[in-house]
Amino acid sequence: MAFYENEVGIFITEEKVQARVRELGAEITRDYQGKDLTLVCVLKGSTFFAMDLARCIDLPLTMEFLGVSSYQGGTETTGEVRITSDVSKPMAGKHLLIIEDIIDTGLTMSFLLENLRARHPASLKVASLLEKPARARTKIDIDYKGFVIDDVFVVGYGLDYAEKYRNLSFIGRMKGK
Ligand code: XMP
Ligand code: MG
Repeated sequence: MAFYENEVGIFITEEKVQARVRELGAEITRDYQGKDLTLVCVLKGSTFFAMDLARCIDLPLTMEFLGVSSYQGGTETTGEVRITSDVSKPMAGKHLLIIEDIIDTGLTMSFLLENLRARHPASLKVASLLEKPARARTKIDIDYKGFVIDDVFVVGYGLDYAEKYRNLSFIGRMKGK
C-alpha cells in the first residue's frame, strides 16, 4: 500500500494530467513562435507543472522563479500577498508567462499580475493547471488552463497539504475534506 492511500484519493489521473500538459505545451509553442519566452514559475506549487510544461514547449525559453506567500486566515487567503523570493533578472521587454498550480480566490494572481505589469514586460499571460471558480473573488483571465475543478481541496503534482503530498504524480483529493 502506498504511503498516501489512507488520506488521498485519485482526483485527476497522471495520464490525464500529462495529456493536458502536452496540449498546453503545443498551444504555447504555436502562440510564442519567434518570441523570447520567459516562464515565471510561482514557488512551490507550480514547479512540477512548470517542469513538465517547459519540456512540452518547443521553443528556446527562459525560466524564472518567484516565491510568494499569502497571509492565511484559516484556509482562506486574506488577499495580502508578498514576494518572498524575487526573479533574478529584469523583466522589462520580456514576454512573460506566469505558471501557477491553482487559481482559487484569484487574489494571489491578481497581485502577481499587477506586480509584474509594473515592470513593463512586452507581454504578460497566465497559465494555471487548475481553476476553482466556485471560490473566485476577482476575475482572472487564464490564457492556458489545465482543468476547471469543483470546490475540493486538491493535493499532488506540486500541490500540498501542510507541505506534504507534492510528490504525487497525479492530482489527489484529501479524503474527508
Ligand atoms: P488564491 O486564493 O490567491 O490562492 O487564488 C492560490 C493559492 O492557494 C493555494 N491553494 C491550494 N493549495 N490545494 C492546495 O494544495 C488546493 O485545493 C488549493 N486551493 C488553493 C495554492 O497555494 C495556490 O497557489
Ligand atoms: Mg501556490
